[in-house]
Amino acid sequence: MRAGVEGATPTPGSRWPPAVSALGLHLPLWAALLAATHVLPGAAPDRLGLAWVEGGLAFVLSRALRLPPWWAWINLFFFPLLVVLLEHGFAPAWALAALAVLALTSLGSVRSRVPLFLSSDRAVAALAASIPERPDLRVIDLGCGWGGPLAGLARRRPDLVLHGVEAAPLNWLIARLRLDGLARVRLGNLWAVDLAPYDVVYAYLSPAPMSRLWAKACREMRPGSLFISNSFEVPGVAPERVIPLDDLTQSKLLIWRIP
Ligand SMILES: C[S@@+](CC[C@H](N)C(=O)[O-])C[C@H]1O[C@@H](n2cnc3c(N)ncnc32)[C@H](O)[C@@H]1O
Repeated sequence: MRAGVEGATPTPGSRWPPAVSALGLHLPLWAALLAATHVLPGAAPDRLGLAWVEGGLAFVLSRALRLPPWWAWINLFFFPLLVVLLEHGFAPAWALAALAVLALTSLGSVRSRVPLFLSSDRAVAALAASIPERPDLRVIDLGCGWGGPLAGLARRRPDLVLHGVEAAPLNWLIARLRLDGLARVRLGNLWAVDLAPYDVVYAYLSPAPMSRLWAKACREMRPGSLFISNSFEVPGVAPERVIPLDDLTQSKLLIWRIP
């Protein structure tokens, strides 16, 4: 598999990442609907009506293409919401600003299929408690987002040497500013990081990269080091320990020891 931000497997039945398929299906839908309103007599509903028809069709198509469920709902509401906002004087500049923020925090997600969501406090507390007490133990958060887990570890475990890597520029900047003097945070791709120096690797990513990441950890980390995933399993590899977190998303920490 090619090294890069991806590390993901394609959606079943599609050559494209889900976000591309999900957003791409609006183009032919709108083309067909606009053509229909011109050709069919009396078929010219108002803008909002047309947006709902388009949203409904996009919902059905998203399900038929077996896109992740949240894309079906996004596709259903996207254009109706846009029409309502525009009709209420919503300045398009705000949409552009929102798009810029989204790109700077999540553009890589389209390829990596690893969106931004944050570890809960319970996850960070359990993580801190799972890391052995040994001076200068080196820990890295792969895809460190806004730096929450590293900040929590710095507070709870000042004995640790903390590193993070993050691909999205705005997330990196937030983590970098937040963790100044507490952890070293690199802007970059986790697949390019050598894991050999780390005693503990923490990852809260998605199901997509887990097999490949486990293979990388086994290749590079020392036997006996810990690989800890928030919520996502390594297919076919039983963890040594599972810690249920009883947090909002009922997540769990899965802990493997490198063989
Ligand atoms: C689910 S968030 C977890 C954030 C943080 N670790 C936490 O637990 O709060 C995953 C993060 O990984 C980042 N990411 C995704 N693919 C990456 C890659 N290949 N290299 C570095 N970071 C990546 C995303 O931008 C996102 O910020």
